[in-house]
Amino acid sequence: MMIVVGKADVGKTTFARRLYQELAADSGPVAFLDGDPGQSTLGPPCTMTVAVGGAKDGDFPPRSGTWSYFVGATSPRGHMLQILTGAARLVAVAREAGAGRIVYDTTGLIDRAQGGLTLKLAKIDLLRPDTVFALQEDGELEPLLSPLRRTKRVRVVDVSPSPARRPRDAEARRAHRARKFAQYFGGAHLHQVGWNDFPVLPQVSFQPGRLLSLEDIRGLVLGLAIVEEVDNRARKALLLTPLSSHDLAQVDALRLGEVRIDPQTFEDRALLPPWLDAGWQRGNPSRR
Ligand SMILES: Nc1ncnc2c1ncn2[C@@H]1O[C@H](COP(=O)(O)OP(=O)(O)OP(=O)(O)O)[C@@H](O)[C@H]1O
Ligand SMILES: [Mg+2]
Repeated sequence: MMIVVGKADVGKTTFARRLYQELAADSGPVAFLDGDPGQSTLGPPCTMTVAVGGAKDGDFPPRSGTWSYFVGATSPRGHMLQILTGAARLVAVAREAGAGRIVYDTTGLIDRAQGGLTLKLAKIDLLRPDTVFALQEDGELEPLLSPLRRTKRVRVVDVSPSPARRPRDAEARRAHRARKFAQYFGGAHLHQVGWNDFPVLPQVSFQPGRLLSLEDIRGLVLGLAIVEEVDNRARKALLLTPLSSHDLAQVDALRLGEVRIDPQTFEDRALLPPWLDAGWQRGNPSRR
C-alpha cells in the first residue's frame, strides 16, 4: 500500500487521485482510501471511505465496491483512535475485496504539538505501507521523514507540490462539508426507532441534530442519520436517514457521533456537552 502525506492544501488528494487512476488503469483492482473525515472525497463528512475499482479501470471514483467507517467528527484532533481503527478496518476490507494495491489519502494534520506526527507514524507502523509519498513545501514533514528515509521499512518518495494548488479557508471547508451532507441527506426520510431496538455505542445520549451511524455487524456504515426528535420518556428517537425500512432491518448497532448537523443548512458544529444543551435537557423536538 501507498500513503500520501502532507500539510493542508498541499495537493494530497489531487496527487492521490492521479496515482490511483494511473495504477488502476493498467493493473488489477486498486483501492482508494479517503482518510479525511473533514474534506471528504468519496463518502459523507465524518466518515472514512474506501472504494475498490475493477481491473484495468482508471475511472474515479472507483465503482466496484465502497465501504465507510464512522469517525463521528470532522477532524482527527481528539479522534485519532477512530482514524487509526478506521484505516485498519478499511484496508482489511479493501484487501478482502481483492485490491492488490491501496492508495491512502490522509488528512493534513502533521503538526507535532497537535499529535499529527504521532498519528502519521502510528499509521505507518500499523499499516506498513511500501511507499510514503510526501508533499512538502518547506521541510515541514522532515520531523517525520528524516528517520523514515533511513529505515528499510518504507520508501519515501518526495513529490513537489504543484504551483497551481489553491488553499481553502475555514469557511470554504465548512461549505464543502455542508454541500456533502446536503447531497447525502437529499432523499432522506424520517424513521422512528426505539432505543431498546438497537445497541447504542458508546452509550445512549440522543440529542436533536446529533449525527449518528447505523452500522452493520462488521462495524461499517450502512447509513448516517440525524436525530430529528427525541422522546426520552418513550425511549424513542425520530431519525432522518436515506436508509429504507428494509436497510434498517440490517442495522446491528447505532454509533453516536460528536457533531450536530443543522437540518436546514446541513452545517455541522461540535456537539455541546449534555448539561449545556437545552434540547437535550428538555428532551424536546428540534426546531424544525
Ligand atoms: N496539480 C494541481 N493542479 C491544479 N490544481 C491543483 C493541483 N493540486 C492541487 N490543486 C488544487 O488545489 C486545491 C487543494 O488541492 P487538494 O485538495 O488536492 O489538497 P489536499 O492536500 O488534499 O488538501 P486537504 O488538506 O484539504 O485535504 C484544490 O482546489 C485542487 O484542485
Ligand atoms: Mg485532501
